[in-house]
Amino acid sequence: MSTVPVIAIDGPSASGKGTVAQRVAQALGFHYLDSGALYRIVALAAKRAGISWQDEAALADLVSTLDIRFEHGEIYVNGEQVSDAVRSEEMSRGASEVAVHPKVRQALLEVQRAFRKAPGLVADGRDMGSVVFPDAQIKVFLTARSHVRAERRYKQLMEKGIHANLAQILADIEARDARDMQRSAAPLQQCSDATLLDTSDMTIAQAVDGVLALYRRHSRGISK
Ligand code: DC
Repeated sequence: MSTVPVIAIDGPSASGKGTVAQRVAQALGFHYLDSGALYRIVALAAKRAGISWQDEAALADLVSTLDIRFEHGEIYVNGEQVSDAVRSEEMSRGASEVAVHPKVRQALLEVQRAFRKAPGLVADGRDMGSVVFPDAQIKVFLTARSHVRAERRYKQLMEKGIHANLAQILADIEARDARDMQRSAAPLQQCSDATLLDTSDMTIAQAVDGVLALYRRHSRGISK
């Protein structure tokens, strides 16, 4: 088993876990894995190849044809930059749909584990602590009330000048939560050994400090 430290941050859509995970990685000089991006990439590549998001075997085969790279904050697939393309609302839905298939999850397992490199990794997703890195040194379940998450996403879109409807965003977030929690393969859940961090009434900086404090306590050998 690897001794390279992993901080696993799991939680629902729009909980802010991506931002928090990236900042924690930056503060510690660790690598960062956005596992949700991998499911988004599969959804996008499938759409382009004319493969249905329901075709489990074809989706799993597709994974082995993808050369995925994260470089300087951008996402490349087979040499093409797809950072914005994978972030669309359509691919948010597609990712959640392709993620229900056990063979797709299996095909992405080794891809994800390959990110565990010295001096350490911060990984965010839905099953980082439960399936991909069950031996992670720190496991955090980062969440916020669904109304708070919808408002954050709405503000983000407005700031980018993208027209958005708050009620629709809330409905989408709640539908995705339900699909991610109810699927039988690696559902979104709080592991019994994960620390709950509800950021509804926290700033990003406070959430980052919370995770860093857990890691420092762990490094000093003090139990949680
Ligand atoms: O974190 P995100 O919103 O980019 O994730 C997109 C979808 O991918 C999400 O609805 C569920 C799926 N996902 C998953 O099943 N397992 C992960 N480790 C990460 C994401």
